[in-house]
Amino acid sequence: MQIPTPLQSPSLLEQQHPSGSGAGHLLSTLKTYKYAENRAPVLEVMDIQKRFDQFQALNHINLDVQAGEFVSFLGPSGCGKTTLLRIIAGLEQPDYGKVIKKGVDITRQQAEKRRCGIVFQNYALFPNLTVKENIAFGLSKNQWSSAERDERVHLLLDLIELPDIAGKYPNQLSGGQQQRVALARAIAPKPDVLLLDEPLSALDAQVRLNVRQKIRSIQQQFDLPTIMVTHDQEEALSISDRVVVMNHGVIEQIDSPHNIYYKPQTSFVARFIGSMNFLDAVCQQPHQLDILGSMSLNFPQQNLQVGQHYTLGFRPESVMIVEEAAADEQFLYMPVQVKSSEFLGAKRRLFCEIELENMPSADVPTLQIEIENAQSAQIQTQMLIRVAHPLIHIFDEQGRALC
Ligand SMILES: Nc1ncnc2c1ncn2[C@@H]1O[C@H](COP(=O)(O)OP(=O)(O)OP(=O)(O)O)[C@@H](O)[C@H]1O
Ligand SMILES: [Mg+2]
Repeated sequence: MQIPTPLQSPSLLEQQHPSGSGAGHLLSTLKTYKYAENRAPVLEVMDIQKRFDQFQALNHINLDVQAGEFVSFLGPSGCGKTTLLRIIAGLEQPDYGKVIKKGVDITRQQAEKRRCGIVFQNYALFPNLTVKENIAFGLSKNQWSSAERDERVHLLLDLIELPDIAGKYPNQLSGGQQQRVALARAIAPKPDVLLLDEPLSALDAQVRLNVRQKIRSIQQQFDLPTIMVTHDQEEALSISDRVVVMNHGVIEQIDSPHNIYYKPQTSFVARFIGSMNFLDAVCQQPHQLDILGSMSLNFPQQNLQVGQHYTLGFRPESVMIVEEAAADEQFLYMPVQVKSSEFLGAKRRLFCEIELENMPSADVPTLQIEIENAQSAQIQTQMLIRVAHPLIHIFDEQGRALC
């Protein structure tokens, strides 16, 4: 397995991250940087850094994209997703690091020569050109005969399921249609990589779902390596082979959608993807955590440091309501009172307060619990809940997951 060498000295890293937290993220980036065995990546991003004046927009970014792979950049607004995509496209220059495509260093290559198809959020079709002319725009007359251009345009119009709009102008199309044309235009010249920056965010929910499935099926049909920027977690998890979760210019985790959800490597990922309940804990004795000062849990498999603080996390759907506690160490039991509830269709979300003696009410955490809608749980009632140990995530003080 090949792991990229950080291209910078540790002392410089320390200067940029005096608190040490950034260095932790660097470790996280390297740990999550997975090369597939025996396969050369189509695209490699190696230790990219980018600063705008005093603002560090990207910090030690390492990732790869395999042949035919669909990768999403997911993260909150301002975390650097678009900047990273623009650096890959050649629309922005990094301060440090490399972009390698098919084994060739393209870091300083002009955008036009990179063979990247790009789709932006705002369609960006040429308003004075017809759909046919828009799609054919990147098909150079030196390389494509007139007949080949026509054939390519009609093939793509069929693929986006809009075969009859060749002669229309963009302002005669709906948003969803325009974005499908933008997709056809981006893939017409047979790019090596497809880059999509929030391509669905201007569309309404139903159209969005439709266009997203279209993008995925066309990308799979052409086996086209694709990167899509989004801040919509459902979008990223539903169509990606791998998701790159970003925060404040660093990569928190690169993983399959399944692992991003079930095995978050940092508390940020756990918080950002879906919902998670968090409880403070401290290790007073080896392999044991004291929770909220009144419960103890044994974690014999964990290498816990005595005196260190930890955070326990579990998802709302990992909680079960039970009649009584069994004499079983495999569960965390908590008495709670139901404070409010939300209807979610087949499920219901309960907001509950933990009922612990000797605890100031200001410190009582509210837990979210998801139950079947048919299951009964009245407001203000008290009940006992439990969470199985394997469903509990433990994060250290730097927010890194232990398990
Ligand atoms: N040309 C620029 N000059 C100065 N600052 C910039 C420039 N481009 C981006 N930034 C800053 O870099 C940070 C990352 O911006 P970027 O557009 O990459 O974020 P993003 O993750 O795509 O956010 P969003 O989800 O809102 O699109 C932001 O704080 C932004 O203000
Ligand atoms: Mg953006």
